[in-house]
Amino acid sequence: SRSDVGPLFDLMDQVAGFYAEQLASEDGKKAIDYLKRRGVSGAIAKTYQLGYAPEGWNTLASRFNFVALTKAGLLVSKEGGGGYDRFRGRVMFPIRDKRGRVVGFGARVLDDSLPKYLNSPETPIFSKGNEVYGLYELLQSHSRPERILVVEGYMDVVALAQFGIGYAVATLGTSTSKAHMELLFRFSSELVFCFDGDKAGKEAAWRAMEATFPCLKDGRHVKIMLLPEGQDPDSLIRAEGVAAFERGIASAATLSEYFFGRVQDELSLESMEGRAQLINRSKKYLEQLPVGVFREMMYQRLQNLSGFNKLDVLENTATLSKVP
Ligand code: GTP
Ligand code: MN
Ligand code: MN
Ligand code: MN
Ligand code: MN
Repeated sequence: SRSDVGPLFDLMDQVAGFYAEQLASEDGKKAIDYLKRRGVSGAIAKTYQLGYAPEGWNTLASRFNFVALTKAGLLVSKEGGGGYDRFRGRVMFPIRDKRGRVVGFGARVLDDSLPKYLNSPETPIFSKGNEVYGLYELLQSHSRPERILVVEGYMDVVALAQFGIGYAVATLGTSTSKAHMELLFRFSSELVFCFDGDKAGKEAAWRAMEATFPCLKDGRHVKIMLLPEGQDPDSLIRAEGVAAFERGIASAATLSEYFFGRVQDELSLESMEGRAQLINRSKKYLEQLPVGVFREMMYQRLQNLSGFNKLDVLENTATLSKVP
C-alpha cells in the first residue's frame, strides 16, 4: 500500500540528493571530469539530477536507515547480516517514475571496468519492465510529444536532450516490453525505436517490434530508425549534429516496411515454397494486431507479396468478419 512505500520514496529522493551533492564535492571531481569528457553539460546534469556514488563501502549505511536502504536495493546484503553499498565509484542516473519520484538508479563506472552499468534491483517501488528512463524529464518539457524516441542507454537520453532532442527515453537494460509501450503510447501516438547500430541493437529492435504488435491500434505508429554500424544515438548526434540526426528520425522505416523487409530475409518469393514460408513467418505477428484498418492492410500486403488470396481460410486470419 501507499503508506508502506511512502518512506521508500522519501529515502530514494534523499539518496539522489546526496549523490548529486557528492558530484559537487572534492571526491566527485573525477566524475565531473568524466561527464565533461563525454560532453555532458552542468545544466543537463542538473536536469537529470546526475550524481556520484563515492567509493566507500559504507557511505549510505552511515547516513541513512539500514533497513530502509536494504529494502530500497541500495545495499547488498552480506551473508550472516549487514550489508555494503551497492553503488561505489560510479556516475549515478536517478530513474524517476512518470510523476517524478525516484524509484531506482542506473550507475556507470568511470573507466573500462566491468560491469559497465549497474541497475537497482527490483524493489517494492521499482520494476524494470514498467519504467523507462527519462519519461518524467520528457514530460516536463513536452506535455504532448509528437513522438517519443526509444533508445537503449542512459547516456543516449542525456546526450540527445543536450542537443535539444528532449523526447527520448531508454529502457533499463531490458528488452522493450508491452508494458513499456502501453506506458509510452499514453503520451504520444508515435514511437521511434532507435537502438544501437550493432548486432545486439538490431536484435533488440526486432524484439521490440514483436512486442509492439498487440499495441498497434489504429492511430498508433511505430517506426524503426537504424543507426550506422558502430554508432549509438549519443555517438551519432555528437559526430553528425542535430540536423542530420533529425533527418534520420524523419526517414525512419515504418513498421510495415521494416517488418516485411525483415520477414523476407533469406526467402525467395520466386518459389511457392518461399511464399508459403513468408505466410507462415508473418501470420503469428499479424494475428496479434488489434482489429482495425492497419491490421487489414497488413494482411492485404501479405496477400500481395505471397500471391495467396485465401489467407482468411487460415486459422485466426478471418478478420474482416470481426470488424463491428
Ligand atoms: P556508454 O558506454 O556509457 O555510452 O554506454 P551505452 O549507454 O552506450 O551502453 P550500451 O550500448 O553498452 O548498453 C545500453 C544500455 O544497456 C545501458 O545504458 C545500460 O542500461 C545497459 N547495460 C549496458 N551494459 C550493462 C551492464 O554491464 N550491466 C547492466 N546491468 N546493464 C548494462
Ligand atoms: Mn554493452
Ligand atoms: Mn550497445
Ligand atoms: Mn554509448
Ligand atoms: Mn550504446
